[in-house]
Amino acid sequence: MIEYPELIKSKYIFVFENKKRTKPKKIDYGRKLWKYKTHYRKTWDHHNFRFGKTKNRKITAESGWSVDEHIELVNTFFPGYILDYKVYKGSIWIDYKIIKGVPASEIFPKTSEFIKKIYRFCVDNYKKTAPFFHGDCTLDNIMVDGDDLYLIDWDRCDLYSEEEVYADLYQDLIRTNIIKRLIYK
Ligand SMILES: Nc1ncnc2c1ncn2[C@@H]1O[C@H](COP(=O)(O)OP(=O)(O)OP(=O)(O)O)[C@@H](O)[C@H]1O
Ligand SMILES: [Mg+2]
Repeated sequence: MIEYPELIKSKYIFVFENKKRTKPKKIDYGRKLWKYKTHYRKTWDHHNFRFGKTKNRKITAESGWSVDEHIELVNTFFPGYILDYKVYKGSIWIDYKIIKGVPASEIFPKTSEFIKKIYRFCVDNYKKTAPFFHGDCTLDNIMVDGDDLYLIDWDRCDLYSEEEVYADLYQDLIRTNIIKRLIYK
């Protein structure tokens, strides 16, 4: 029987058709996340999609990381997370292991102890991957399984300065959640 995956999320992407182009092309709904019974799959509707940081960087046809480079980085920092991947003319897909638990964003109430634990975990993770950094430590991207925490969604993994890392962590974990009034004393 054919298994139809569930479409979880769809987003635009920016890509360069070729190395000579100076302006990126926007592809609406160019990146999709699918949930299968056995894994998650992300698809990008262009083979030139570049992974890595999006902030503090001018994007060019050669900035960031190719899919092969990206896979190598993620396999180093989170072995076993990527199950398989494929690059076609016109598209890419990557399959991920299902990480047990619930996203930290869905845990309530968000006490300051809980946020501190998450912050500590992200700093410890950075210390293991430095000078690389996951680059997108939002609560949506942290899976909580009892006492164990896991970082998913490594698409923005890249080289970051220490200043960028700590500014990002402050923004993504503390500031955003204070503004949303989600942290409780
Ligand atoms: N491998 C996985 N295991 C468990 N849950 C996953 C996995 N991949 C994705 N999810 C679920 O789907 C949600 C979205 O996935 P993901 O963060 O990879 O995509 P995204 O949010 O669209 O990317 P971005 O954060 O760059 O916008 C996650 O918050 C998580 O709940
Ligand atoms: Mg995410």
